[in-house]
Amino acid sequence: MRAKLIAGNWKMNLGKADSLTLAHDLIHKIPKHSKAQVLLIPTFLHLDAVAHVVAKSHLLLGAQDVYFEKTGAFTGEISAGMLLELGVSHVLIGHSERRHVLHETDAVLNKKLLAATAEKLVAIYCIGETLQERDAGKTAEVLQHQLKAGLVHLSHDVIEKGHLVIAYEPVWAIGTGHTATPEHAQETHAFIRARLSEILTPELAAAIRIQYGGSVKKSNAAELLAKPDVDGLLVGGASLIADEFAAIVQAAG
Ligand code: 13P
Repeated sequence: MRAKLIAGNWKMNLGKADSLTLAHDLIHKIPKHSKAQVLLIPTFLHLDAVAHVVAKSHLLLGAQDVYFEKTGAFTGEISAGMLLELGVSHVLIGHSERRHVLHETDAVLNKKLLAATAEKLVAIYCIGETLQERDAGKTAEVLQHQLKAGLVHLSHDVIEKGHLVIAYEPVWAIGTGHTATPEHAQETHAFIRARLSEILTPELAAAIRIQYGGSVKKSNAAELLAKPDVDGLLVGGASLIADEFAAIVQAAG
């Protein structure tokens, strides 16, 4: 019932030529009828070029961020409408690197989430605790807060349409090689779904896809995806290698 979503977040990696080559390779290596939805998330700068490669293919296109205003004097920012114009269907909001490196606040992320979903983009709202928070036993508190603050005023209609995805990315697992165990991921995803059920309704919570992210590789993808509340993967480093990412998609069936 919850179609798996496998996303490759290319972050600030790959020049234009390498981005185009990777997109071309993935179109050929990922079977057309794979059960999972597959999403490529290049840098803003190469979205247009990658959009031309994946247009009419079975691969979807996402952006790494979005600004909450529609238009105006916001130097350096990009609106949801501009992304739509390029063929973008999904957008990451609140990735840990934006929360912790660029200091985006929950209030700003909430505005971004509302703006993106108002334009009918699928928002992938990222949450996750730092190592320090985990060691202090604060994981539950942090996740609950990020969910509550991020989803303020989000309409149920948006969720019914499938336009909200949650990505659980423990910060201690990102780019470190320390993947959460499948058991840890399942336990945390079940916790997130239970909180969503309280914040929204049990029916809406049951429909929301929850991705796991943090050092996902082809060697651990299948065991993570086998867990009932793991509805997809958000992949960083391993998504830059065509064979590795195609194997991760294959693990989703
Ligand atoms: P890695 O897969 O490189 O750990 O990155 C995860 C991530 O941040 C995806 O958004």
